[in-house]
Amino acid sequence: MGTLIQNGQVVTARETFTADVLIEGSIIREVRAGIDPTGHTLVDATGLLVLPGGIDVHTHMDMPFGGTVSADDFETGTRAAAIGGTTTIVDFAIQAKGTRMRDALDTWWRKAEGKACIDYGLHMIVTDLGSDAGKQGLEDMDDMVQEGVASFKLFMAYPNVLMVDDGTILKALQRTARNGALICMHAENGSAIDVIVQQTLAAGKTAPIYHALSRPTLAEAEAVHRAIALAEIAGVPVYIVHLSSEHALNQVREARDRGLPAFAETCPQYLLLSIEDNQTGTSFEDAKYVFTPPLREKRNQPRLWDGLRTDNLQVVSTDHCPFCFADQKTLGKDDFTKIPNGGPGVENRMQLIYHHGVNCNQITLNRFVEITAESPARIFGLYPRKGVLAAGSDADVVLWDPHALHTISAATHHMRVDYSMFEGFQVQGNARQVYSRGELIVDRGLYLGRIGRGQYLRREARGGAWQ
Ligand code: URP
Ligand code: ZN
Ligand code: ZN
Repeated sequence: MGTLIQNGQVVTARETFTADVLIEGSIIREVRAGIDPTGHTLVDATGLLVLPGGIDVHTHMDMPFGGTVSADDFETGTRAAAIGGTTTIVDFAIQAKGTRMRDALDTWWRKAEGKACIDYGLHMIVTDLGSDAGKQGLEDMDDMVQEGVASFKLFMAYPNVLMVDDGTILKALQRTARNGALICMHAENGSAIDVIVQQTLAAGKTAPIYHALSRPTLAEAEAVHRAIALAEIAGVPVYIVHLSSEHALNQVREARDRGLPAFAETCPQYLLLSIEDNQTGTSFEDAKYVFTPPLREKRNQPRLWDGLRTDNLQVVSTDHCPFCFADQKTLGKDDFTKIPNGGPGVENRMQLIYHHGVNCNQITLNRFVEITAESPARIFGLYPRKGVLAAGSDADVVLWDPHALHTISAATHHMRVDYSMFEGFQVQGNARQVYSRGELIVDRGLYLGRIGRGQYLRREARGGAWQ
């Protein structure tokens, strides 16, 4: 027989209602009030919200970057995610220049195999379409789609490392018209930023604050505009990752107002942290907040919340890419360009967005579920298997205690990193129990599942299901 979660408030993107949720095996069998309890294991969810497991579509576990490797691997990172109420991640494999995408996929499968604690999908970062006018690379993209890699990330930043030119971007976008995949863009004008960075260093400005000061919001907005224009030329949707500023958001809004399928995510760090609040300007501690796009001025925050309310931003992901302060961020002690770019957050996304979004009246409870679970599932080919509490969906279920008080701290978090970007933040609302495919994997902050139980998710390239 099954597990019957009784009397909770079930939350979907559209409604909130009192109902029971019956889990049989790994699947949700029924969601309705008054399910006959006979023979089932009963779980009393009175006073709790029953949410679909969170989906974080932007993480970097075990990623070689900036002369080091991100501090969480698939074990520590996904365990921390689960404790925070996230039951699915989509991470990024990276094609090394001059190599085949399949090599990267195999490498990332090996990283995750036997380690992932929750289900995971992979995007492919494309760095090179090959020398034969891109033919081999474009065929590789089709091959990846067959393997369930339904999305690709391309970089308009990080010249000589990950950046690709506009021709490559256009070719990749055009290919998705055939294979149904979605292109995700890191939208910053890398060449322009590089000029400013070199000028900044030449002026002797080497402290971490100059990372933020050398990456203007207009360089982000320009790249967002270009990415959307290239997608319009190709006649396909595009998804802007880690959008950080009002200027960039304006570009997405303008495109959507014209009816274009332009999508974007933002992250808790852009909604809640700022240059004013989190940068001293002089201390190397500022390096804790060196990620890309960088911290922005505080006035951007209400604009981003507004973007979430108005559906000009559809998703909140974390861009979880942790580097320890003591021995990784310090690689850039004398030169901000050598600070590994990225920050931790996968464990805290649900808490932060629930508290600062729902409790602080920025978004409704239903919108919270939509931007943390349902929309990511829809956009990235996981819906309705993931992202919703409905008959037939995977039983990824979070029993959420809306009254639980929690203070975020590196002293108590489960991510393998020696600082928290949200140190001391007090939140109300936290995951109490977490089920993944019907298995209770978290109980009050304790991970109960087997390491390596997470499964690779073959995602569907739907080429239009986003509408
Ligand atoms: O600083 C960041 N965002 N690091 C991860 C790589 C990326 O651009 O997403
Ligand atoms: Zn990026
Ligand atoms: Zn990222």
